[in-house]
Amino acid sequence: MTKTYAGGYRALKGIDLEIRRGEIFALLGPNGAGKTTLISIVCGIVNPSEGRVLADGHDIVRDYRAARSAIGLVPQELHTDAFETVHDTVRFSRGLYGKPPNPAYLEKILRELSLWDKRGEKIMALSGGMKRRVLIAKALSHEPSILFLDEPTAGVDVELRREMWAMVSRLRDSGVTIILTTHYIDEAEEMADRVGVINQGEIVLVEDKRVLMRKLGKKQLSLQLQAPLDAVPQALASDALTLSDDGNELVYTFDAQAEDTGIAALLKRLAEHGIEFKDLNTSQSSLEEIFVNLVKSPQAEKKPAPGAAQEVRA
Ligand SMILES: Nc1ncnc2c1ncn2[C@@H]1O[C@H](COP(=O)(O)OP(=O)(O)OP(=O)(O)O)[C@@H](O)[C@H]1O
Ligand SMILES: [Mg+2]
Repeated sequence: MTKTYAGGYRALKGIDLEIRRGEIFALLGPNGAGKTTLISIVCGIVNPSEGRVLADGHDIVRDYRAARSAIGLVPQELHTDAFETVHDTVRFSRGLYGKPPNPAYLEKILRELSLWDKRGEKIMALSGGMKRRVLIAKALSHEPSILFLDEPTAGVDVELRREMWAMVSRLRDSGVTIILTTHYIDEAEEMADRVGVINQGEIVLVEDKRVLMRKLGKKQLSLQLQAPLDAVPQALASDALTLSDDGNELVYTFDAQAEDTGIAALLKRLAEHGIEFKDLNTSQSSLEEIFVNLVKSPQAEKKPAPGAAQEVRA
């Protein structure tokens, strides 16, 4: 699928992506990468320039009614009917899909989103985080089997984020397929089964989260020294070995997948130089580091787009 906006901007350049039934798929990418464009096409809000999309087997253009009733969308932008009450707006959304009323179901989702006590309030009287939850309730109102969450937890407080993560997990357990975009890497790390990274309109990576973290992750070995060093001895100097400012810790970075990590040789040479340590630990790089490395790759730097990737690099 491609998307060229009026004016000629190519927001999506040949996207080929398959989402598995029942998974949580996290789409990561810097501002302007094309995440919302991609979601908007699947949801029928933006027309694709080329290509086609099937949602639950239904072509989103030819068979749009069936496709759309399978899909729920929590949009990135907050826009709600200010004068409606929480309960009415959610009930109305369900009605738009021609579903018969189901007060018990609506009560369940309002309770899960901690909105039940607010059900009689006008939406304009809610805080930003509550409005976002109303959007989630609306998206779930017609019992979709595919749920898109475009930055679901932007502006949501820490405790509620955790609750929302739990709710998304429960939805997945009940069989709903979830595609979410986020700028919080820990959110993807916590929730996703698979992660896709999009940069400048191209999918640059799709991978099982665990495989991704194993495959791309670097490991670090930290050694707490018995006595501080002024500098790394000349004979041991390498990019992989760094000394902390206070001289008390040596950090060795290595490829966790490598046949020979170099640890044995390093420890031997430290001993030869009389460098003793009192403690050591290893740590593996996070999804965040992997992501930042991906979107600032030389390939991405060759074709800069205005506004793209800046925020993540900063
Ligand atoms: N209606 C439009 N007309 C023209 N260009 C658009 C339109 N909507 C989006 N774009 C451009 O398409 C690119 C992708 O935008 P999109 O909103 O899909 O990014 P995003 O990945 O969702 O970013 P963010 O993380 O900031 O939400 C951007 O360069 C944007 O300026
Ligand atoms: Mg967006």
